[in-house]
Amino acid sequence: MSTLPTDAASPGSEAPPRRKTTVLSLQAKRGRGEAITMLTAYDFPSARQVDEAGVDMILVGDSLAMVVLGHENTLSVTLDEMLHHARAVRRGARFALLVGDLPFMTYQVSPEQALRSAGRYVQEGGMDAVKLEGGRHMAPTARTLVQAGIPVQGHIGLTPQSVNTLGGWRVQGKTARAALDLLDDALALEDAGVFSIVLESVPEPVAAAITERLTVPTIGIGAGQETSGQVLVYHDLLGLHTGLSPRFVRRFAELGAAGTAAIADYVAAVRAREFPAEVHTYPMPEEELSAFREQLAARERRRPPTPPAGRRLVA
Ligand code: KIV
Repeated sequence: MSTLPTDAASPGSEAPPRRKTTVLSLQAKRGRGEAITMLTAYDFPSARQVDEAGVDMILVGDSLAMVVLGHENTLSVTLDEMLHHARAVRRGARFALLVGDLPFMTYQVSPEQALRSAGRYVQEGGMDAVKLEGGRHMAPTARTLVQAGIPVQGHIGLTPQSVNTLGGWRVQGKTARAALDLLDDALALEDAGVFSIVLESVPEPVAAAITERLTVPTIGIGAGQETSGQVLVYHDLLGLHTGLSPRFVRRFAELGAAGTAAIADYVAAVRAREFPAEVHTYPMPEEELSAFREQLAARERRRPPTPPAGRRLVA
């Protein structure tokens, strides 16, 4: 039986029709103590799959620089590249709240620069909200966007765009001082009006303490059970990503290995001339085929063809 949520209640069922996620419905979920789900997607098919599976929020994450474009980190992806993917995600998703990740150097220069970049995400990319990395120092920027009518998600803890100043992909908030700093970052972002905050690679008790002290939902990745919701990268969840995974990743499938095996089967079937089989070919009326062969033979009697070396002539 399918467990896919639908947008229409089935006859006789009590399930309400699925509605588009909004910042208010996320807040209400948090209020009811229901876990919020978020997952990245980067194109039309992944967005459709994630949306149909019932995920509340889709993040067009700048992780696409790594998992889709093959870069070493997230620093090189541009806003134009992100917008190209955002538009495809928009076409694939009906219900999830869509969050566009502001790439490196498209919002750090000034609140005005951030407003222009976020505006493009909404107008050109069809995103419902944007995400930016950084704590207290980013609060004025977040406030500017919110005041312009653009919902903002904060992102603190391990902020991949600062990988060089953090000295690598390291867990954050591991000392009392660092944990208190993270809490102050979260409170400043909340005061600026963000609708949610991603906590990445933070010890569980610190994420729990922050979550308890905020009114907006926290979304954890490597932050334990006590956040209001969880986010993962699509390729990590499905096992599409080769190489080392961070400790917080659970691979719910091994589609990368399954895909490579399927492609190797295709290669073998083509080489063995087992594919395509008759079922994959298009038939032609018998009389048309006979006429084709006769006319072709007549033509070639008049003008013999010169086949390329090694090529067998059919018909
Ligand atoms: O870009 C991304 O995928 C992210 C998530 C890891 C939160 O920022």
